[in-house]
Amino acid sequence: MMSSHIASAIGHPNIALIKYWGNRDHNLRLPSNGSLSMTLGDLETVTQVTFDPSMTEDRLYLNENAISGPSLDRVSLHLDVIRTMAKLSFKAEIISHSNFPVGAGIASSASGFAALTVAAAAAAGLELNPSQLSRIARLGSGSACRSIFGGYVEWKAGTNDHNSFAETIADQDHWDLVDIIVIVEEGHKSVGSTSGHKLAESSPLQDARIHDTERRLSICRQAILQRDFLSLASIVEEDSNMMHAIMMTSRPQLLYWRPETVAIMKSIQEWRHAGMQVCFTIDAGPNVHCLCPSRYKDQVGDLLKQIPGVIRLIHSVPGGAAHLLPIKSPSID
Ligand code: DP6
Repeated sequence: MMSSHIASAIGHPNIALIKYWGNRDHNLRLPSNGSLSMTLGDLETVTQVTFDPSMTEDRLYLNENAISGPSLDRVSLHLDVIRTMAKLSFKAEIISHSNFPVGAGIASSASGFAALTVAAAAAAGLELNPSQLSRIARLGSGSACRSIFGGYVEWKAGTNDHNSFAETIADQDHWDLVDIIVIVEEGHKSVGSTSGHKLAESSPLQDARIHDTERRLSICRQAILQRDFLSLASIVEEDSNMMHAIMMTSRPQLLYWRPETVAIMKSIQEWRHAGMQVCFTIDAGPNVHCLCPSRYKDQVGDLLKQIPGVIRLIHSVPGGAAHLLPIKSPSID
């Protein structure tokens, strides 16, 4: 059979309900704690990978821009893992498009490395199951291992390179939650997650957070399985606050919030105390992810837009797994 060495895949970002923060092994991205997320269907990264024997170096294009430096190095390193597995030495062209702002705490690396892993593995001729793809995606970006799967996804921390990967705990249509991402700042955050994970252990609070993880995971898992929004809301906010407490007490300290971030957090809590089903969670950036059952989304959206400093809202419902796409212009070789 002739092999074309080209493949295209789609991946979605995810919002962590129980956060991954800190690694026991930074190179292998073995996390200090397990985590749980919802895959975000409306946001997507589509990536095409072509292994080409005539190329002398990897080339990367993100939303039509040629990328060099650390971002290209990180992608090349990830392709090396796949090239080694496939016993392939060809360099690659990687063309990637995302339909949402990258680097602003919306987990672009998760969808990016999930799509890259699925496309590159297929282009290299590897036939891998989702657990294997999740394990490989994890090496590129920890949270990407969750984006291999759709719906509500748990990443079991594991103890080594082989047993640290994610799995779906409930399908995307299990619960119609909506994530309304409240943008208060566009553009790149100053300290990315990879550097942040390395600071986590410098916080004297991190040990306590890690030891408490099983409790939070189990409350969150149960809340999802039983579609119990109020239990979900309190554990999701508690977990987000715990992660930000680690960030704020790391050396050097990391403070991602802006005044608008806090104003939104307080408003959401007031709305919930007044009877609405809504809660917040915040990743490594100032933007707030506002979660609610879909029947509240218009009401919540209208209220959020009235808060000063809110630039725009991005809505997403639970989404599916990363998967291969047909190639637009098939090559003949
Ligand atoms: C705050 O997966 O982006 O979003 O492994 O270095 O790529 P790298 O880090 P990344 O970290 C995600 C951090 C988080 C929480 C989460 O998604 O669990």
